Amino acid sequence: MSERRALVAANWKMHGSRASNAAWLSEFIAARDGLTCEAVVCAPYVYLQQLRDQLTVGQVGAQDVAANTAGAFTGDVSAEMLRDCGCDWVIVGHSERRQWHHETDQIVALKAERALQAGLRPLVCVGETLQQREAGETMAVLSAQLAAILHRIGVEGLLRGGLAYEPVWAIGTGRTATAQQAQEVHAALRAQVQQGASGSANALRIVYGGSVKPANARELFAQPDIDGGLIGGASLVAGDFLAICAAASV
Ligand code: 13P
Repeated sequence: MSERRALVAANWKMHGSRASNAAWLSEFIAARDGLTCEAVVCAPYVYLQQLRDQLTVGQVGAQDVAANTAGAFTGDVSAEMLRDCGCDWVIVGHSERRQWHHETDQIVALKAERALQAGLRPLVCVGETLQQREAGETMAVLSAQLAAILHRIGVEGLLRGGLAYEPVWAIGTGRTATAQQAQEVHAALRAQVQQGASGSANALRIVYGGSVKPANARELFAQPDIDGGLIGGASLVAGDFLAICAAASV
């Protein structure tokens, strides 16, 4: 980590209930005061109001946003609507959206733009599959994903949110990228951003996601270009999420 303030985001994915969220939130709120990292909780749409009522400004995130602004798009939720309901952040381009909802690099970039237009902070995800890694295509894949984002929102836009590196093979598998593997990718992503805007890439937060747990968080976050984490499974347990936030608060 560096002088950049660490960012740790919980991605609950499709988990939770009003009752279990309430228990999680009271445990989190009781213990969050000592944290110096920025902590964000990304919940399913229907629970954002519950989060808004409990958390402080800056801590509420959605997991997706529509690529359109308004209209006949049944089931979609616009960036304006999220902002209207007090949402601060939104994850865009998660590999589960790319994979199961066929979101292309262009759609992801458009969603990031919509988020910015509405005043939301996009946490943009990039990541390679196991097949791509084994074929030696990791950096080519990531570079194309990042280029599409930069093309649409520029470095300035990305700086208003953040970038998340989530190797698909490490998500929910218990198989984490080593700190060295992750650092290598983060440094390369930062270098690519740097090409577009000298100087400002230093301010960009690049967080790592993929089986981050209390036991491995500290080593990952100790890397110079890893500025926090995007946490799936471990974020469902308030105590584990708090421990990961604590690892980012040193
Ligand atoms: P896990 O932490 O469960 O591997 O999930 C990572 C992730 O996809 C966060 O967005």
